[in-house]
Amino acid sequence: MLLTRRIVTADDATTTSLLNCLVREVCVPDRQVWAGGGRLVLRLPRAGVLLRAGLARPPVGPTYRLRAPVEERRADAWIPAGWERIADLAAGELELATGRANPEFSAQVRDSHAALRAILAAREQTAEGSADAFLASEQSLVSGHRFHPAPKARQGAPGEWLPYAPEARTRFRPRWLAVRADVLAEGGDAAAFAELEALGPSVPPEYTLLPVHPWQFSLLSGRPLLRRALASGGVRDLGTAGPEVFPTASVRTVYVPSADVFCKFSLDVRITNCVRKNSWYELDGAVHLNRLLGEVFAGHDGAALLAEPAYRTVALADRALYEGFGVILREGVRNLPGTPLLAAALADPYGTALSALAPLATPEGAAAWWDAYARLVLRPVLAAYLDHGVVLEPHVQNVLMVMDSGGMPVRAVFRDLEGTKLTAGRWNLAHLPAGVRDALTYDAERGWNRVVYCLFVNHLTEVAAAVADLHPTLERELWGTVRRELDASPHADRPQVRALLAGVPFPAKANLRARWARSADRAATYVPARNPLAN
Ligand SMILES: Nc1ncnc2c1ncn2[C@@H]1O[C@H](COP(=O)(O)OP(=O)(O)O)[C@@H](O)[C@H]1O
Ligand SMILES: [Mg+2]
Repeated sequence: MLLTRRIVTADDATTTSLLNCLVREVCVPDRQVWAGGGRLVLRLPRAGVLLRAGLARPPVGPTYRLRAPVEERRADAWIPAGWERIADLAAGELELATGRANPEFSAQVRDSHAALRAILAAREQTAEGSADAFLASEQSLVSGHRFHPAPKARQGAPGEWLPYAPEARTRFRPRWLAVRADVLAEGGDAAAFAELEALGPSVPPEYTLLPVHPWQFSLLSGRPLLRRALASGGVRDLGTAGPEVFPTASVRTVYVPSADVFCKFSLDVRITNCVRKNSWYELDGAVHLNRLLGEVFAGHDGAALLAEPAYRTVALADRALYEGFGVILREGVRNLPGTPLLAAALADPYGTALSALAPLATPEGAAAWWDAYARLVLRPVLAAYLDHGVVLEPHVQNVLMVMDSGGMPVRAVFRDLEGTKLTAGRWNLAHLPAGVRDALTYDAERGWNRVVYCLFVNHLTEVAAAVADLHPTLERELWGTVRRELDASPHADRPQVRALLAGVPFPAKANLRARWARSADRAATYVPARNPLAN
């Protein structure tokens, strides 16, 4: 077992995420990758450039463990290729592939690189992470999404956002607005806010407390309708107060330990593919879905969905304010039967969350741990889709795995109703407003692609690879476990599951192409990736 973790640098992490995208979205679909002798050689098919990188071990599933140095073939020699060169090559290849330019791309990659440097420097200043293992896992994603060209890009100078950056291990106090009854919009069970309200500043009668992300407040505070409402008393600014909150991995969602709730704030900042704003239909959709989904998870011992019982915002005639101050309340984690850890932290090749778990110390322990892990994630996700027509989005940032005191997985906890959809035709949604209904529904095939991508490619592949980083000879066996688990599951005879077991390629989300096309996350396409289940 490796006792020292790899040190992340901004240059390496930027290079690796760009190369991961190129391999997945450009080279593998055209079969332009060759692994051997501890190296991966890849050709950018249209630019005609050959690159090579170190490869920790031959890949079993759809992920490659690439290592520095990265080199480019020039005439008869291999010369070093840094992150800026790789970014230029990626841009050149995509321009040739799509026939379109993207003048923002290089700046986004540079921004992400600069953000990474700022995050790494900030972490050096803060001695330790949170003593709470759950919070430490939420705040550990230093290098971020491994298959995104600009995983850490955030608009603004680091000085503006570092106080709110989970990776900088921050905590802060929210800003509070008091909103008069005629200016308040809310949905769901307002009582869900009670514990949080009790910790905030007191409000005059007729007013309701609205927690606000301070970064978002500074982005919106100049809007004329807000200024007018503040002047007329429809909204009062109570300033920064109340309990400490901890930003979680998504940046805009914070955990409030003293009230055991999460606040999912809007944040008008692009983080990976989306500007993190709660649209009006998402605010409403969350509470509707919350009601509908109770039965799907009821009676499941091994799985839970964090409820989103209520939302609240200002009813001002400016959509940027209505959506921008919208906050969704999400159930906390105190009542879970152990310590929840963010799956993305377990999957992080630079992280320590996985190697800190006792069962991971030996290959036998790791195999047993994975057996429990894979079953806990697979079964509820497949049941949700195949039995209930519910498309979960179980990517590694949306799943918490609860560990018992021995470090063994005991419950999978799913979160984020924004990404949760219902397959068209399965549910009667006639009572919902059309905009909410449309945002909640997905056609069955697209839904299945998303389930398979999140579950297998984004999640199980990456956690399996992280386990294999500790025990390199295990990786094939880990996939054998997934195959046996699928085979033994109540859904083994469904056509979709049979196809997976027969080895149909996995759909992998094309984040580089989505960024290049500047398309909405919802419109992202998928590329075929290796499915090792039939091996
Ligand atoms: N492997 C990963 N897959 C998906 N998202 C990831 C991953 N690693 C880090 N992330 C981050 O987690 C967030 C996931 O997106 P999403 O669930 O849509 O966000 P939110 O919880 O804010 O609604 C993004 O900010 C993304 O950068
Ligand atoms: Mg999420």
